[in-house]
Amino acid sequence: MNQPTSIAPATGKLGVLIPGMGAVATTVIAGVEAIKAGIGQPIGSLTQMGTVRLGKRTEGRSPLIKDFVPLADIDSLVFGGWDVFPEDAYDSAIHAGVLDNRLLDQIADPLKAVKPMPAVFDRNYVRRLEGSNVKSAKSKWDAVLEVREDIQRFKADNNVERLVMIWCGSTEIFMEHHEVHDDIESLEKAIQENHPAIPPSMIYAYAALQEGVPFLNGAPNLTVDVPAMVELARQKGVPIGGKDFKTGQTLMKTLLAPGLKARMLGVQGWFSTNILGNRDGEVLDDPDSFKTKEVSKLDVLEFILQPNLYPELYGDIYHKVRINYYPPRGDEKEGWDNIDIFGWLGMPMQIKVDFLCRDSILAAPLVLDLVLFADLAQRSGMAGIQEWLSFYFKSPMTAPDLYPEHDLFIQLMKLKNTLRFLQGEDLITHLGQEYYD
Ligand SMILES: NC(=O)c1ccc[n+]([C@@H]2O[C@H](COP(=O)([O-])OP(=O)(O)OC[C@H]3O[C@@H](n4cnc5c(N)ncnc54)[C@H](O)[C@@H]3O)[C@@H](O)[C@H]2O)c1
Repeated sequence: MNQPTSIAPATGKLGVLIPGMGAVATTVIAGVEAIKAGIGQPIGSLTQMGTVRLGKRTEGRSPLIKDFVPLADIDSLVFGGWDVFPEDAYDSAIHAGVLDNRLLDQIADPLKAVKPMPAVFDRNYVRRLEGSNVKSAKSKWDAVLEVREDIQRFKADNNVERLVMIWCGSTEIFMEHHEVHDDIESLEKAIQENHPAIPPSMIYAYAALQEGVPFLNGAPNLTVDVPAMVELARQKGVPIGGKDFKTGQTLMKTLLAPGLKARMLGVQGWFSTNILGNRDGEVLDDPDSFKTKEVSKLDVLEFILQPNLYPELYGDIYHKVRINYYPPRGDEKEGWDNIDIFGWLGMPMQIKVDFLCRDSILAAPLVLDLVLFADLAQRSGMAGIQEWLSFYFKSPMTAPDLYPEHDLFIQLMKLKNTLRFLQGEDLITHLGQEYYD
């Protein structure tokens, strides 16, 4: 793309529409309200705490990202969304059990004001859920029209200038690319004919794109990762991104695997297992939803380690990922990794990782950043797949025939170079010869 001549300013309010107001969504909303109230800090958020180096290392220019690019201000965010359960964001946050109730009580008013709109829901795609707050649309096309009306009403009622939609809903059953996803015409025909290859997440996404609203996908669902949606996003001038927030165990994998590869250490096996007891864990207990997640988690190592280039080191890895639903843990997941590696002359070694993480605490800052960056992208005239946001995803969307970049540090460099590019600053290559000339 060409460098934008100007980026439209972030004036007025920015609406954040979230299909799926469970643990992740309510942790983001509560976090933003706590930050607005001055009782919390945006730890983990690159847009709020990160800096970007400009020019040479000798220049001492490293502004905060939020001061360097014109991002919407946290105070301008207004939240809304949909869920199959009718609880408002306060009750849903209490149910999720991620944040301390004493903190939630201090921001109870703004949380109680966020009441989910009735969801587009179909149990054929998420089998472990049943809720009452569901639209009664007769067909998938009617559901699209209802979501479009919801978007328009939310915009008018809240007097927001721009919107971003981010899927924080459950993981749907595994779906493969179907020919009805090939182009816009077949996609629309399939929606009109109630085709089974159109899950609820695609209905929200199609409605968002038609309304000119950027769409980001926090789950591993197919949703916008099909040619018809990519084409529609480009036609409408709307940024899209996905899939599946990069948190917990996969974050650890993308930290460790590039390091092992950088030092040319071999990997014989990588066994990853998780126990978690939140609603996400319950949904993933269904083998068809787990399959969607498994594919998203398994690809990471293959793309980082590149066994085609290093067959002696990574050509024969046994990679296994398990997720076990274990209610006593709630959102406080535990992820174990056993990594069998080998070094000089093939001598074996082992690495054990036991990550006692809080999934939603790791996911919340990603949601905030993605919303602010997608809005920036739209104001900068960037449409379609935003590969520079791969940093945030387990299965980054890419152009066809391009393998995704999974290495967190390459992803971060790409992201920061995109920001430099948008602002007309020199890109940083880390060559550094000039310091020694
Ligand atoms: N927490 C993390 O670190 C993390 C990381 C990567 C991906 N994810 C994904 O993010 C999503 C949300 O995770 P969570 O922990 O908040 O789960 P959650 O179960 O607490 O919340 C998901 C919510 O989505 C709702 N929902 C399901 N289908 C819907 C539909 N069609 N329309 C509207 N609402 C719908 C559910 O009722 C539920 O309240 C999941 O798909 C999860 O796999 C989470």
